[in-house]
Amino acid sequence: MTDRQSASSQKPKIDTTIAHTARIWNYWLGGKDNFAVDREAGDKVAAMLPSIVAQARADRAFLGRAIRYLAGEAGVRQFLDIGTGLPTVENTHEVAQQVAPEARIVYADNDPLVLSHARALLTSSPEGVCDYIDGDLREPEKILAQAVRTLDFTRPVALMLLGVLHHISDTDLAYSIVRRLTAALAPGSFLAINHSTSAIHGAAMEEAVAHWNLVGTPSMTLRSPQQIARFFDGLDLLEPGVVSCSRWRPALRSAGGQPAEVDEFCGVARKP
Ligand SMILES: C[S@@+](CC[C@H](N)C(=O)[O-])C[C@H]1O[C@@H](n2cnc3c(N)ncnc32)[C@H](O)[C@@H]1O
Repeated sequence: MTDRQSASSQKPKIDTTIAHTARIWNYWLGGKDNFAVDREAGDKVAAMLPSIVAQARADRAFLGRAIRYLAGEAGVRQFLDIGTGLPTVENTHEVAQQVAPEARIVYADNDPLVLSHARALLTSSPEGVCDYIDGDLREPEKILAQAVRTLDFTRPVALMLLGVLHHISDTDLAYSIVRRLTAALAPGSFLAINHSTSAIHGAAMEEAVAHWNLVGTPSMTLRSPQQIARFFDGLDLLEPGVVSCSRWRPALRSAGGQPAEVDEFCGVARKP
């Protein structure tokens, strides 16, 4: 099945017999919203690649640092977070509204379990707004058409695509989706991405993902840091560029220097 076909044929049904990325991610992050099949697949992948749990946590920590920068120094007041995941600690709206209570956040995800937990993502501050779209990244125009209910696209928006583009197997389609989304953003908007790679752990990561692709859904496609950097073409990439997400402006440096790299690379860029 192609990416586009599976987008339109998706049924709003929670399948507890197949491991799913949102639930396995929740498991690695220490959450409770997962089933036995997710824990089993999560444990198997972690046995093959023990660093995967640190990777999931480094990904989530990057989300916090990136949003604190965007809502703080960069002054962004609107966020579109596609591929939200199950509610966990430090959800996008919580981090953004800690800095700017008036921040407006739109979440979008295509997993029915995330939809069923959306209430926990809609706990906006009184000054701000949160909305949730049951939408598919492979249909970006549909997400944009619903996001205008909440976001003013004539003003800067931070588009967050965290841990989701590696679920689009066709690389040209993934680039096209990002281009179509960023084309709708006003100058001064931002794009934040993190994406799995095998640049650090090589064959161990590739084998773990091959196993995931046998037992889990949706499938994952690893991309090189150079391929990940291409998502930012036409935008001004902020320092330190595309790096392992543990090394994107780390809050604390260990005594030995930089934190250990994980196989999740990220970047933040500004639309000129
Ligand atoms: C690994 S989780 C990442 C969650 C969160 N963004 C984070 O970084 O912690 C990936 C999320 O993307 C969602 N997802 C996968 N493919 C998607 C698609 N085509 N459209 C919308 N959401 C998708 C999954 O349901 C899941 O919630």
